[in-house]
Formats: sequence, C-alpha cells, structure tokens
Amino acid sequence: MPTLKFAVLAGDYIGPEVMSEALRVLRHVAEEEGLELLARQADVGGAGIDNHGKALPEGTLRICEESDAILFGSVGGPKWEKLPPNEQPERAALLPLRKHFTLFANIRPGLLYRELTAASPIKTERIPDGIDIVCIRELTGGLYFGKPKETKTLPDGDLQAVDTMVYRRSEIERIAATAVAAARSRKRKLCSIDKANVLETSVLWRKTVTDYVAKNAPDIELTHMYVDNAAMQLVRSPNQFDVFVTENMFGDILSDEMAVICGSLGMLSSASLGAGRNSLGLPFGLYEPAGGTAPDIAGKGVANPCAQILSTALMLRYSFGLEKPAARIEAAVRRAVTSGARTCDIAFGGASIGTRAMTDAILAAL
Ligand code: IPM
Ligand code: MG
Repeated sequence: MPTLKFAVLAGDYIGPEVMSEALRVLRHVAEEEGLELLARQADVGGAGIDNHGKALPEGTLRICEESDAILFGSVGGPKWEKLPPNEQPERAALLPLRKHFTLFANIRPGLLYRELTAASPIKTERIPDGIDIVCIRELTGGLYFGKPKETKTLPDGDLQAVDTMVYRRSEIERIAATAVAAARSRKRKLCSIDKANVLETSVLWRKTVTDYVAKNAPDIELTHMYVDNAAMQLVRSPNQFDVFVTENMFGDILSDEMAVICGSLGMLSSASLGAGRNSLGLPFGLYEPAGGTAPDIAGKGVANPCAQILSTALMLRYSFGLEKPAARIEAAVRRAVTSGARTCDIAFGGASIGTRAMTDAILAAL
C-alpha cells in the first residue's frame, strides 16, 4: 500500500479549522484508493511562537525534512503583530521554509467556476464562462531574499533602507521550465511578465525566458507583457492569459489580484515546489491555501475549507504523483459548490453553510 508521508502545519486562527476538514477529505479518499497516510502535525507561525518561542521551531523543521511534502495552513494574526518584523509568523516561518527547501516554483491556479461568476468583482458579461488561468511565481529570488537587505543610519543622520532585486540566469531558467511544463499541460500559451523597460533583472528575465523557450519549447506560444499592463489586463480580460510566469514580488501582487477576480480567497489553492526531490523522486513541495488566517471569522465555524482541501489535491498530484485521487477531490469540490453548497464567502447573500457542512457536501460528492 503506498504510504503518503507528509507534515501537517496548520498554523493559526482558521488554519487548524480548515486543516482538520482537509484531513477528513484526505482520509476518505485514502481509504477508497488504498493509500496509507502518515501525517505528522507540528506547530508553526504564532502557534510556534506561543509553544516553542519561535515561528519555525527546530522540531517542526525536522518533521518537514523527514517528510515527502508539507501541507500548510496559514500563519499570523493580530496576536503577534507587535513583534519585530523579522520575528513575525509570516516572515519568520514561511520565508525560511521557502528558502530552506528551495521552494522556487509557486503555482497558483486562478479558477472561478462558471456558476460562481457573481462572486467576482468583474462583470459577468466579461467572464461568461468563469476564469481559468494559472500564475507561476518565482518564489526564492528577487527582492524577498536579495542582499544587501538592511536599514542603516547614514553619516548625515538620515535613515536608509535597502532591498536588493537580484536574479541569476539559472534561477530564471528553472522557473521557465516549470512554466513551460504548466503551459504544456494546458493550452501551450505562456505569458512572461516583467518590467524590462526599466529593470536590469527584467531584461535578463525576458532574454532568458525567450532563449529557454526557443531552445526547449518551440511548441509553446510565448508572449511578454510589462507588469503594469498585466495588472490592468488581468481585471479587463483575465482569460486572455492562460499560464503566466513572473518574478517573486510581481507574482505576489498579481496573484492577489488574480485571487480577488476569482471571487474568493477561500477557493484558491497553491503549490510551492522545491528544487529537491522527495523519497519518491518527485518534487518536494509545500501546499497551502491562497488566503490568510482570517482572524475575524476564526472560531465561528464559517471559514471556507475548499482552498485547503484543493491544496491537498495539489499535494497528491505533484509530490505523490497521484493524479486520479487529486482530480477526484477537485471534481468533488466543484460538484459540491456548483450544486449549491456554499460557505458565506461565496453565497452572495443566498443561503450559506458552515465549514463542517461544506466538507460534508464535498464528502458526499466524492
Ligand atoms: C504570499 C504571502 C507572503 C508573500 C507573505 C505572507 C510573506 O503574501 O504567499 O503571497 O509575500 O509571499
Ligand atoms: Mg501574497
């Protein structure tokens, strides 16, 4: 019986609420598909700070290292906002995890079902069939990690802060490879987004992506777009994109924009794939919902569990090579939602159900 060995890092506020629902779905599928689950839970984020004094405790990191994938909830919230910036859950847990496992390829599907177009701030006539695009964000380079990164007092007494945007060709090539693979699994259309009219890193980015595709993927239709235009095109006509690829910071911003046009953060999953392989020879990855910890609704039992459930599907697909159960989960979420089971974030004033009932509907659809 195949064994799925993964770390479960639920995190804070609604993190644990939606995680337990995702595990219910996973257990159900595992039983039906003859899979053994070896899920090891560990504290991360605010829970790490409260219970072990830091956002990414050593024990948690060790459990991740001993696993084939990480199923992540979400971290942070008002309780820890007073801490110095570099001790806060987001920066002190998520970013070190990305760096430690070289999770360079962040895949964020932007999917809005046709039945849910009313949830999007975009007029339905512009997206009659919903939205179906994919954002590939470079996740371990650029401004987030470049050095120097510091704040210092200048000789004249003024204070100066600096972040460094830096990319190597090899870093761009490997994310281009991920983007090409994603484009090949869809319409073979890829848009690379940069700011090559201003930034050196973007000039290298554009040249490297162009060369990579010319040499390795002549079957892919490659286009380029400046990031400011892309931000505009995304709200004007999102389906002109199919797969787009961009650097870390641009991807952070564009993926939030993509999330909002897709109606609800509660529906969007993501995968962050590593450069390394797990014990199965597949990419080690971290899988997490696009949304945050939503402290305002925590403990009320109303959070949408779909994004966390869909993230487990991505884990099955990418880190365990299990396409069939992954697709089954995705189909079940779609069936449950489109047949009317809705948490409040996607009910647009209509009847809504709670977190647990939403999961029950997904289990029934399975
Ligand atoms: C994301 C988040 C993170 C990021 C934060 C929490 C550090 O916004 O995953 O998009 O900026 O990458
Ligand atoms: Mg973000």
